[in-house]
Amino acid sequence: MSNHISLTRYLVEQQRVDGSIPAQLRLLIEVVARACKSISHAVNKGALGGVLGPAHSENVQGEIQKKLDIIANEVLIEANEWGGHLAAMASEEMEDIYIVPNRYPQGEYLLLFDPLDGSSNIDVNVSIGTIFSVLRKPEGHDVAEGDFLQAGSQQVAAGYCVYGPQTTLVLTVGHGVAVFTLDREQGSFVLTQEHLQVPEETQEFAINMSNMRHWDVPTRRYIDECLQGRDGPRGKNFNMRWVASMVADVHRILTRGGVFMYPWDQREPNKPGKLRLMYEANPMSWLIEQAGGAATNGHQRILDIVPTQLHQRVSVVLGSKSEVEQVRRYYAEAANMP
Ligand code: AHG
Ligand code: MN
Ligand code: MN
Repeated sequence: MSNHISLTRYLVEQQRVDGSIPAQLRLLIEVVARACKSISHAVNKGALGGVLGPAHSENVQGEIQKKLDIIANEVLIEANEWGGHLAAMASEEMEDIYIVPNRYPQGEYLLLFDPLDGSSNIDVNVSIGTIFSVLRKPEGHDVAEGDFLQAGSQQVAAGYCVYGPQTTLVLTVGHGVAVFTLDREQGSFVLTQEHLQVPEETQEFAINMSNMRHWDVPTRRYIDECLQGRDGPRGKNFNMRWVASMVADVHRILTRGGVFMYPWDQREPNKPGKLRLMYEANPMSWLIEQAGGAATNGHQRILDIVPTQLHQRVSVVLGSKSEVEQVRRYYAEAANMP
């Protein structure tokens, strides 16, 4: 007998303790985890499974889709449509929402996902992931796209799975953050860490430095001061990491602290940022907050933003609380400049 706690057991016990995981939500999380297991297998096969390379199509954001973007999207839809726990789904890879077909019962939840995060890393064998967010469907009418437009603070579950040296599922249902590692022999996710906390003491930042010349003043000021190291106002040296998979960068920050930034920049001034609010920034921001960190767009807590569009973008600063607060202060100071 092993005393390993499986994802199923964790969810059942969590429900007993605080009643936060009704049966439909538990089923939903388990189905998403099962889908992530399939995606992990496909990722692992790589060239042997014929899953690498472009798919010769574009998504709604005008990005070239990779084969794995489409495979992961299909796996998540097929796994989730028949269980009776969902009313509809929304994905980075689909322009419109996907309503659960009539032949299946409709449930009370809405699921949003970035099926494959870090697509530019697929073909070079670097960590990638899946991000998901769960909302409750408002009652009293047939599901429609407007039902998804809820602030991130309304999420009832959120998480990501990172396909790296290990396949790891990181989850919150609003009572802290738990980490599960895929046991490939058993085929199950096993609890490997609970009550995760973002370390406060940090000397690491994550930003795509090649965009420096396009940044706004507060971002430039914050990074400049980090780069000055011990000789500058921060009085300590900083290190930089940029995986270019948000899942991998956020996972590192959850593990050893730091700050992640994908700010607005001047390349496309009318776009608030690169990352998508509803299935990238919101779930990651909730996880980070649940682990004692903070997340802002520079002006507002990300979880307070009320979306107006399914695929809307947002500027993102998240991670260790004091660093995020410092960036937020620089935005406030810049706004008050004459
Ligand atoms: P996706 O692969 O889902 O489109 O997301 C990629 C995102 C995010 O994961 C990462 O932080 C960022 O794009 C990397 O952007 P750059 O290539 O501009 O650094
Ligand atoms: Mn992504
Ligand atoms: Mn993606």
